[in-house]
Amino acid sequence: MNVANRNASAPAVQWLERYAAVRQQSVALCAPLSVEDYGMQSMSDVSPPKWHLAHTSWFFETFILVPYFKGYLAFNPQYAYLFNSYYQTVGTLFPRAQRGVLSRPTVQEVLEYRKHVDAAMQSLLTGTVHGDLEQRLELGLQHEQQHQELLLTDIKHILGGNPLKPAYRQLPAGSTCATAAVTWLPHTAGVRQIGAQANDFSFDNERPRHRVYLHDFAIASRPVSNGEYLAFIDAGGYSRPELWLSDGWQELQQRHWQAPLYWQRQDNAWHHYTLGGWLPVPAEQPVCHVSYYEADAFARWAGKRLPTEAEWEVAAADVPVRGNFVEAGYLHPQAADAIPSTAQLYGDVWQWTASDYAPYPGYRAPTGALGEYNGKFMCNQRVLRGGSCASPQSHLRASYRNFFYPATRWQFSGLRLAVDI
Ligand SMILES: [Fe+2]
Repeated sequence: MNVANRNASAPAVQWLERYAAVRQQSVALCAPLSVEDYGMQSMSDVSPPKWHLAHTSWFFETFILVPYFKGYLAFNPQYAYLFNSYYQTVGTLFPRAQRGVLSRPTVQEVLEYRKHVDAAMQSLLTGTVHGDLEQRLELGLQHEQQHQELLLTDIKHILGGNPLKPAYRQLPAGSTCATAAVTWLPHTAGVRQIGAQANDFSFDNERPRHRVYLHDFAIASRPVSNGEYLAFIDAGGYSRPELWLSDGWQELQQRHWQAPLYWQRQDNAWHHYTLGGWLPVPAEQPVCHVSYYEADAFARWAGKRLPTEAEWEVAAADVPVRGNFVEAGYLHPQAADAIPSTAQLYGDVWQWTASDYAPYPGYRAPTGALGEYNGKFMCNQRVLRGGSCASPQSHLRASYRNFFYPATRWQFSGLRLAVDI
């Protein structure tokens, strides 16, 4: 198994502490929910919060406790069917689109399932942690962090679709500074290296590190703002087919898109649903909840283009991973003054790139069930870079590749422009 890569071994006590902290954070993210919220599935892409809490436990149970913890007894053998997401080689799956009908197990039973798995994991982690077990443990923690972001995006979709527009929780007041003018950060043509560095954790899809040739380009100093996106809307952006890819225009017509997801006109002003409730759209914040098709149409309208993922990674390679992440508590993208030196490359919004989610040269999906983690999705999706206001900071790095289908809008997805020079 080589889905995850990490060279340095950590003492067992550090694993215990990290394991407890990551697992506790998932439960904490659900604390503002009512019991009714836990089972909701507002569309097939969304999973009920209860399902996320159970599935992340199933992951540790299936890939660590069953093979490595002698005598482990499953909490409920039927959960292997209910909470397997997409690992066909492990067994049959409960249909994804029907996760919202699972009134049982109850929330309380799912929390007990988590405790059962945690107790066994804590016993296991008091022993020696090395080799394959260490790699799986790291993968399990990274997997749970991915689901923490999904918990927030799914909760937002569940609550945001309710006409009462209930807030997930009260959010801190954000920055209200004016949008800084865009500057263009130049990069000269040449052979560059992208992909994961050998000594740090990475997913298999970030490897192998390899050479790419880039032409002269410049990348924008910040993401596109709501104000700029409003100008695109006001210029008839959603009614001009010449700005859109054919597939995008079809999506727009079928889904009646007129603005980003969660946006609605009210009293002649745009409002949007945020995790803090229903609010006017601030012009200075980065636009989010746009699809790849919308990002691409905006770039065409602006006379620019989206960066490739290689251009983005080269631009971000020496930039510290600082920004507006889940730990900041805003749970919404913020205006550009927060941490200006980083050009908001990390945090705030995932940035759509012009790149297909494809294997790097020399990539081979790992053998075994965990080889299903990333490789089998390398078709018809686009890469996003940088992380968002819902991502854990420790989960990100320059080589991190997120990927979604181009019509996807419920993630915190925005865009940054690039130009040829
Ligand atoms: Fe998962």
